[in-house]
Amino acid sequence: MPTLIYLIGFMGSGKSTLGRILANVLGFEFVDLDELFEQRFGRPIPEYFAREGEEAFRAAERSLVEESARLQRTIVAAGGGAFLEESNRSLMLTHGLTIYLRLSVSLLMERLRTSRNRPLLYDDAGRTLKDVALRNRIAKLLDERRPFYEQAHVIIDVDERAIGLTVDRIASEIQSAAKRSD
Ligand code: S3P
Repeated sequence: MPTLIYLIGFMGSGKSTLGRILANVLGFEFVDLDELFEQRFGRPIPEYFAREGEEAFRAAERSLVEESARLQRTIVAAGGGAFLEESNRSLMLTHGLTIYLRLSVSLLMERLRTSRNRPLLYDDAGRTLKDVALRNRIAKLLDERRPFYEQAHVIIDVDERAIGLTVDRIASEIQSAAKRSD
């Protein structure tokens, strides 16, 4: 049984919500890298981005990914950008089972419409983009990121179905991966 699972994917894809439920179902620990970031660095991510810049955020995020690679019996929800960096990706692919939660732009748009804490979706005034501008930003980022996300071991297409069904599908993927590695 793989005992370290990384949930990866775009902002708003449900990594944290699904991760918490999955950890309960499997009797694993749950770690949200964004929450860990805020605890460690003592500041909300938007504030960190605004003051230190994205590059500093990525360096700090890298240190948390390195730390997470030592965990066992844990579901890790990775921030949406964590899997893009070569060193993070290779650590996650080597030490864990990586699962990409794939959603359409429309569904992401629905979920991110009311988001307030994601600096990559802000306009110049620091407010979350709206309507067409939000959709364009999501589509552009997703286009850039897709080739990386699709390197995950497992891809789960998430649609509007009940969350329980998605949890079941992920749990059964984890079990099949366990069988393959026996
Ligand atoms: C980011 C996603 C965020 C957070 C930061 C950057 C990204 O996490 O790490 O705002 O680059 O996609 P979520 O995916 O949990 O929103």
